[in-house]
Amino acid sequence: TGSLTFLGIESSCDDTAAAVIRHAPGLPAQILASVVEGQTALHAAFGGVVPEIAARAHAERLDHCVEQALAESGVTLADLDGIAVTAGPGLIGGVLSGVMLARGLSMATGLPIVGVNHLAGHALTPRLTDQLAFPYLMLLVSGGHCQFLIVHSEQRFERLGGTIDDAPGEAFDKTAKLLGLNQPGGPAVQTEATLGDAKRFAFPRPLLDRPGCDMSFSGLKTALLRARDAVMAEKGGLTVQDRRDLCAGFQAAVADVLAEKTRRALEVYAALNPEQPALAVAGGVAANTAVRARLETVCAQAGVSFLAPPLRLCTDNAAMIAWAGIERFRAGDYSPADLVARPRWPL
Ligand code: KG4
Ligand code: ZN
Repeated sequence: TGSLTFLGIESSCDDTAAAVIRHAPGLPAQILASVVEGQTALHAAFGGVVPEIAARAHAERLDHCVEQALAESGVTLADLDGIAVTAGPGLIGGVLSGVMLARGLSMATGLPIVGVNHLAGHALTPRLTDQLAFPYLMLLVSGGHCQFLIVHSEQRFERLGGTIDDAPGEAFDKTAKLLGLNQPGGPAVQTEATLGDAKRFAFPRPLLDRPGCDMSFSGLKTALLRARDAVMAEKGGLTVQDRRDLCAGFQAAVADVLAEKTRRALEVYAALNPEQPALAVAGGVAANTAVRARLETVCAQAGVSFLAPPLRLCTDNAAMIAWAGIERFRAGDYSPADLVARPRWPL
């Protein structure tokens, strides 16, 4: 039947995850299990992911995640056709834990392993959820990544541009921190922004005056800090409305930059004359309603369909890794060299 069942393992950042996917050619893939154990609480006090804490947590939790994914899916090791594991890019301690576990399982069972690039996992997700046809444009926008990719095949990704400094999710999180809001900052800032006046504070739109698809978000963070301090110096504190207006102004600036750069990326993509043109998004920031609304408008204007996989598959997970493993295994284009754990691994 050509049906393949893969175990996926992900441990490159602050989520420990395992998943089981089954796929038969021509049919939608089935996610038999997808277990994600986040570490937000472990790192919350430090204002960012602490690599040593993340590495230890992955090492402690990976076995259990895999066992749970197998138990939930009702699949045994003997039913599997292969193992896919994130081999980078990411925090090396976590990546190594995942790779060692995959190696151990492979040695015990004789199953093949596919080393998957974490970014490729995100970029191939729209094919898992919607069987999207190549080539499509991908905007990956999260706490750690921000880039445009034309996805030509399961292994050819053309980068059109991306952030030259912070990722937008990072900027949302820092904004929340500066305004005393909860982490993760994105949802908190979005809630405040809904009730704010985006025009009250003038935030910059970095790099819009420059051609191409590169972006910059670190200046926005600085602008927010300055605007906040100016209000505090004047009034001795922030009112609820000040906070809302700051969030609204910041969010509008992020949405403007992403929308305009997406418009440009779509122009490059359109030159390929894709049969069914599509923009897919992934990453936590793609959950932002203001960002999403702007991207939908840009796509509608360009005659391109807009696709956002469910959030649990947009953020870090192992289903996308199992899926990328299946795609590459089918194409036969993986190699043992892909299994070396790499902190840096450009697509
Ligand atoms: O994809 P993700 O779960 O993890 C990685 O960064 O890999 O993305 C998390 C990021 C966080 O920075 C979070 O603040 C942001 O996505 N985020 C949002 C929203 N929901 C999550 N940013 C803006 N608006 C949101 N609604
Ligand atoms: Zn990710």
